[in-house]
Amino acid sequence: MGTRRDFVVKPRETPGGTVTIPGDKSVTHRIFLLGSWASGTTRVRGANRGDDCMRTLAAMRSLGVEVEDDGVTITLRGRDGAFAVPDGPLDMGNSGTGTRLLAGLLATQKFSSTLTGDESLKTRPMGRVVTPLRKMGAVITGNRDGSLLPITIEGGALEGIEYSTPVASAQVKSAVLLAGLGAAGETVVTEPAHSRDHTERMMAAMGADIVCEGTSVRLQGGGALRGLEMEVGGDPSSAAFLIVAGLLIPDAEIAVDGLLDNPTRTAFLDVLDRMGANLERIPLGDEGPEKRVRVIARYGPLRATEVSGAEIPALIDEIPILAVAGATARGNFRVRDAAELRVKESDRIATTVAMLRAFGVEADEDEDGFVLQGPKPGKKNLKGAKIDAAKDHRIAMAAVVAALAAKGKSRIEDVACVETSFPEFLDLFRALGLEQSIRLEEK
Ligand code: S3P
Repeated sequence: MGTRRDFVVKPRETPGGTVTIPGDKSVTHRIFLLGSWASGTTRVRGANRGDDCMRTLAAMRSLGVEVEDDGVTITLRGRDGAFAVPDGPLDMGNSGTGTRLLAGLLATQKFSSTLTGDESLKTRPMGRVVTPLRKMGAVITGNRDGSLLPITIEGGALEGIEYSTPVASAQVKSAVLLAGLGAAGETVVTEPAHSRDHTERMMAAMGADIVCEGTSVRLQGGGALRGLEMEVGGDPSSAAFLIVAGLLIPDAEIAVDGLLDNPTRTAFLDVLDRMGANLERIPLGDEGPEKRVRVIARYGPLRATEVSGAEIPALIDEIPILAVAGATARGNFRVRDAAELRVKESDRIATTVAMLRAFGVEADEDEDGFVLQGPKPGKKNLKGAKIDAAKDHRIAMAAVVAALAAKGKSRIEDVACVETSFPEFLDLFRALGLEQSIRLEEK
């Protein structure tokens, strides 16, 4: 304790080779929650082992779920919809997804339980899940009338609802659907645009009566789920850092294998295609409810684009790293309609703009996005910098990639946050040949 970890980056080598990306964070949270709720055994291979997902697994243990982990396969013995009363508050660390999804599941339980988290999570909005869960019949109290953690949920006797979410949020949609599993009658969630659909796919694979119609999902409550065996596909949001590094570092060629291939998650690849990126996608087929793909990224020039509208929810977590690509592209790179970025692990409009400005990019913030000016002809846009990652894993990792594409030496301060989603980040860059270019320094 007390030591700070920094990445010191000095570009020296050309990365090349193939890596397999660790399991997807969103899918891992969901299989832990749904496997715990289902009857029978759920076996998960390739789970995401970052702190966020491990908090969700620990919470399920606290709720009486038997869990075995041999380092490869995580086995859960489902409780068929009835959990044990936990000994104390469930501490979800930094994980907004774990907290909001678990709130939905806890709303189905008759006992009272408390969710809490770290200082950053305590500032993030919970009203967006508390409002629909109250409408379904859960009694929720907490800080600022339940809009901030800690919150205490007493549930049971829920009624299905028809709910239109004010923002396209997979967390809100999933919380309502998870509560809908234990509610009487039908639950219908309608979104303003498609958000990630892993909950729907997984529920269907486990035997739920669930139908997707446009941007609505219809679930019949009270049905049993059966345990599932699944291998979690590689996390596209983590792969995005390696893929963009492959595009930006001269002569690089990076292949990422076994990525989850789901259009509600891979829109960042479509944006990179639009920017003229040298990308190859090789479909690998189905793995349970989700498909897989191999992506090869090769160095080449990029042109700027605008990212906005309905595509935003399908690439919301990749905006910091897309912005790094955008900062090297010819023209002005613009993001609009992304106000949701302001309530992520940091205010990602402010922190992305601040990070790129530190690297020397001309960047301007709007209420719901930003605009970046590309490099002057014949000039590099990124110069070595000292970066405060604002304790946000995706800002820290995006800054490392910017630093690898920059002229000179950079320091990315306080990068322990990378552990929340992608503890293998540095090892994978090393496996691609960047032995000297990135150093972890303890201060
Ligand atoms: C997630 C949904 C997104 C995303 C988050 C993971 C999920 O949040 O930003 O990292 O797994 O459901 P919102 O649903 O709040 O947009």
